[in-house]
Amino acid sequence: MSTDLVELAKRRGFFFQAAEPYGGVSGFYVYGPQGATLKRKIEDSWRDRFQVQEGHREIEAPTIMPEPVFEASGHLDTFDDMLVECPECGESHRADHLIEDNTDIEDAESFPLDEVGDIIAEHDLHCPTCDTALAGEPVEDFNLMFQTDIGPGSGQSGYLRPETAQGIFVEFSRLKEYARNQLPFGITQIGKAYRNEISPRKSIVRVREFTQAELEHFIDPEEDEPPLERVADVEVRLYSAPEQQGDEGEYLDTTVGEAVEEGIIASDWVAYYVGVAQEWYERIGIDMDRFRFRQHLAGERSHYASDCWDAEGEIDGDWIELAGISDRSDYDLSKHDEYSDEDFTVFRQYDEPQVVERATVDPDMSYLGPEFGGAAGDIADALQSLAERDRSAFDGGEVTVEADGESYTIPVEKTGFTVEEIKESGEHIMPHVIEPSMGVGRALYTVLVHSYERDEVEGETRTRLALEPELAPTTVGVFPLMDKDGMGETARDVAADLRTEGFDVTYDDSGNIGRRYRRQDEVGTPFCVTVDYEGLEDDTVTLRERDSTEQIRVAVADLADILADLRSGDRAFTDL
Ligand code: GAP
Repeated sequence: MSTDLVELAKRRGFFFQAAEPYGGVSGFYVYGPQGATLKRKIEDSWRDRFQVQEGHREIEAPTIMPEPVFEASGHLDTFDDMLVECPECGESHRADHLIEDNTDIEDAESFPLDEVGDIIAEHDLHCPTCDTALAGEPVEDFNLMFQTDIGPGSGQSGYLRPETAQGIFVEFSRLKEYARNQLPFGITQIGKAYRNEISPRKSIVRVREFTQAELEHFIDPEEDEPPLERVADVEVRLYSAPEQQGDEGEYLDTTVGEAVEEGIIASDWVAYYVGVAQEWYERIGIDMDRFRFRQHLAGERSHYASDCWDAEGEIDGDWIELAGISDRSDYDLSKHDEYSDEDFTVFRQYDEPQVVERATVDPDMSYLGPEFGGAAGDIADALQSLAERDRSAFDGGEVTVEADGESYTIPVEKTGFTVEEIKESGEHIMPHVIEPSMGVGRALYTVLVHSYERDEVEGETRTRLALEPELAPTTVGVFPLMDKDGMGETARDVAADLRTEGFDVTYDDSGNIGRRYRRQDEVGTPFCVTVDYEGLEDDTVTLRERDSTEQIRVAVADLADILADLRSGDRAFTDL
């Protein structure tokens, strides 16, 4: 099924491999004229649901960021896949995929490297390219980020972002100002992300450059609650971690509300976005019988996530990860707070001012300076943070602190340690982040595969993409029955008027009318308009619906309004 779709995608301008005149490079794709429009419409629909309807705002950050960002985020250390190289042909393979493709083991990603090596040996797995045995070959971590130099010479080292999210986290101090320091608030970004995948595969499903649509929803974990009631009745199919680990793991068909009540989804916020995602994937035309939410197993979770549910779509018997809905806790903001000079906290105002005890130090620098030289300043800072953390450390005659990897012991009387009562109007807290993260290319691919149909019309097999009218790259095809007797001119006028009204229109006067319908069916155009002799007389056209192939006659004057209603779903074709 997906092979036919990929062939159609190439032939009809949805997507194809990039730079083919130069042999192409694995993992890079072009969205053609149909695909680029479909992709934009999917992005617009995502923006409408996850941003506009939720009251969030969008930003656009650079795709290249300096190295310290990824030191702080943990991507430099931990954003790795498992690599095994063939000793014979030198081809690199993702070790976990090799195992999943050739054994009954699922989620091999969650095993440690040495166990993965053992499994390859036990199952006598071979190189998919040249069939050489891979037993005993080292399995190593491979960092997925693309590195680059910023500026000439020995310029700064930078990386192409592996997720759009970091562009939001890094700018948090400015963004919180924009939000008037009020939680909760959400920031979205739709843009390119880059990963140097070991083995790109399944056409646009696993590529090295792809588009993500991400929402980072910043919340106060103790005070903020999601509007769960809005999605409580949304029906979802869940595949929880315990079910996956059991012998006969089963799906749970339930509602978002029940999943929260029964503790299947632990975080109300994650559950809320599971509900929103379910509604959105249905809206864009994913087949809900081939869709589920699967909870990550502990070993599978990204370094930043405390819980994650993936939205998955089924294609040719395999489950494709379409999105991750994660509770990222305060991981990212805490890291950037620690590694940078900015303050990533938000001030939480108390209802009433509170009297609290605060421990402070006022070290005697005329003692610390001569005694410890250049380390005196760092020792003073270390004393202050120890006083805030553990005031009992100052109970004895001496106190010991660590500064720059050295231990220093100071008489308590030289630290100026005091505990005073002060009135505080609030406190600084580190916000938590809930993140729905969608791959746009994977959504597009799954929509295409799930809408690909073959049926019979007038004794002939036709290929049809049953795309939602809201998303179809062309909303309406306009044809003259024949390009003569004024039908061509009238049809061109109809097409021009519909374009002025904002419709994506294709004009076609070549070949017989049946062939023109087939061409539009194949790219998913939901409606076709034909100007015929009768229409020249009474200013009407025939309007044909793709899926039913039914036709009705409508006045040209009403055409734009009717098409707008059909596209938005406000009216059904059968109601016309
Ligand atoms: N900010 C979180 C994050 O990046 P992720 O699960 O690594 O999470 C989110 O990626 C989504 O991006 C995935 O669910 C998938 O749809 C898409 N994605 C990830 N890697 C991809 C690749 N190599 N090719 C195409 N899409 C990819």
